[in-house]
Amino acid sequence: MTHTIREVSLDEIMKINGKIPEFEEEPRLKFETKLANKNHLLIAAYIEQQPAGYLIAYDKFGDGSIYCWMAGVIPSFRKQGILSQLMDYQDQWAQSKGYNKIKIKTRNNRRSMLSFLVKNDFYFTEVNAGDTIEENRISLEKKL
Ligand SMILES: CC(C)(COP(=O)(O)OP(=O)(O)OC[C@H]1O[C@@H](n2cnc3c(N)ncnc32)[C@H](O)[C@@H]1OP(=O)(O)O)[C@@H](O)C(=O)NCCC(=O)NCCS
Repeated sequence: MTHTIREVSLDEIMKINGKIPEFEEEPRLKFETKLANKNHLLIAAYIEQQPAGYLIAYDKFGDGSIYCWMAGVIPSFRKQGILSQLMDYQDQWAQSKGYNKIKIKTRNNRRSMLSFLVKNDFYFTEVNAGDTIEENRISLEKKL
């Protein structure tokens, strides 16, 4: 099966976001506001031309890092390496722009994401309490 990663518009990201059950429907304005005036990357993965997942990263901190803000894969396309491909594209893009680190924040109950991050050289930097232990926010980073 042909997998491709492409840089896409925010409209395309919003369509894919709607197909990821763990994510709430978000207003487009929220995305626009976060990314305004920030160097950013919007990418989507396709399997046989079908959208399978997306990733948004942007220069949140202005400290030489890129922040991976959102990443999700549509359930029927999971466990086929889509997240790995999105992350690889992000890493190469960030390196080509001179960034030296990827930062990310996730929740304690996002177990697949945490597995991915540990396996792929991310280190824990901080834990912020949520309403429950499962909701705790976990920050991680990886050197490029
Ligand atoms: C997390 C998510 C993006 C993973 O996408 P994916 O395309 O299925 O991931 P990949 O196939 O690229 O997996 C790569 C690695 O991640 C880890 N991983 C992914 N899914 C996993 C699972 N269900 N259980 C354990 N490890 C998992 C594994 O290490 C895997 O490598 P392996 O297949 O060699 O074992 C997807 O499950 C998802 O969209 N979840 C809901 C939304 C979410 O939690 N997003 C993250 C918010 S921060």
